[in-house]
Amino acid sequence: MAAIKTIDLTRVFKREKSELITALDKINIEVEEGEIFGLLGPNGAGKTTLIKILCTLLSPTRGKAYVHGYDVEKEHSKIREIINVVSGGESSGYGMLTVRENLWFFSQLYGFDGREAKRRIDMLIESLSIGDFADVRLNKLSTGMFQKFHLARGLINNPKVLFLDEPTLGLDVAAAREIRKFVRRWIEEDPHRSILLTTHYMAEAEELCDRIAIIHKGRIIALGSPRELVERANPERVFEIECKYEGNLESVLKDIAGIKASLRHDPETGFSKMRLVLVDADIDEVVKEFVSKGVSVLSLKRAVPTLEDVFLTTVGVGLVE
Ligand SMILES: Nc1ncnc2c1ncn2[C@@H]1O[C@H](COP(=O)(O)OP(=O)(O)OP(=O)(O)O)[C@@H](O)[C@H]1O
Ligand SMILES: [Mg+2]
Repeated sequence: MAAIKTIDLTRVFKREKSELITALDKINIEVEEGEIFGLLGPNGAGKTTLIKILCTLLSPTRGKAYVHGYDVEKEHSKIREIINVVSGGESSGYGMLTVRENLWFFSQLYGFDGREAKRRIDMLIESLSIGDFADVRLNKLSTGMFQKFHLARGLINNPKVLFLDEPTLGLDVAAAREIRKFVRRWIEEDPHRSILLTTHYMAEAEELCDRIAIIHKGRIIALGSPRELVERANPERVFEIECKYEGNLESVLKDIAGIKASLRHDPETGFSKMRLVLVDADIDEVVKEFVSKGVSVLSLKRAVPTLEDVFLTTVGVGLVE
């Protein structure tokens, strides 16, 4: 049985003045046991909405969703027993209590007896290497420590399905790496576990996820393993360009048909670096257009396609790393 299954899952929100917004539009996904499944998409794509429905915090407007066969609309308590959710930048827990005391509190919400609660807490403190600050109050923790505490909190009931909504948001490179390493180890420990993860970081999706759904405006626009997705990008059509222009380069790019591009400005040199995917254009024509518009092309080389290029091509805008 699939760990997660959705059938034409749709969620419509009402905004002011009865304006309707379709946050999820007929989503069909199936996540297997043992799998880390990633949702990659720009702000407002619908990622958190999907997680909230699967966690039984929000009802679908239409369609169905199941977690280990349980219906999200009818079997809330069955689902809540076997899942947990950890969001980046969340602020759960009590600042005046220590990490250990907070974990104790959450263990009691699940009704574990004293001995079992202590066993689980000790094990989590050990496996997440948070012993150094286990007896420090939450309001004294750094962002990275806090996020490790959240992960420990999310694992207290040994969930079968773990939802990670941007788990490394705002963390430095080393802290994010530690979290990713832990997540990998956790999934490998038990073949019945699964993770649904959202992220804005391409490299994180590429490194962690067995499969990825690129989601945009509530719809899945590409789905596959990171490798399958990258193989769909044509290596002949991806370029890196360094250029110089006094005006607004973005508006120049908008006027050129058949390309998708993401821009990065280097404030030190004053140059712009561009990742360019040719959807329906030739590189000669594009360069000619640049020149005719007064853009100086300083360097141009072919690039090996990455997930970012697939994202650029399908969504149309880059996802800032
Ligand atoms: N409670 C709500 N009421 C009205 N609109 C909502 C509500 N929750 C979400 N939305 C809208 O639904 C859309 C999807 O939002 P969601 O939070 O799922 O996006 P997301 O992919 O998680 O974005 P982000 O990357 O910024 O976290 C957005 O347009 C958002 O404004
Ligand atoms: Mg979100």
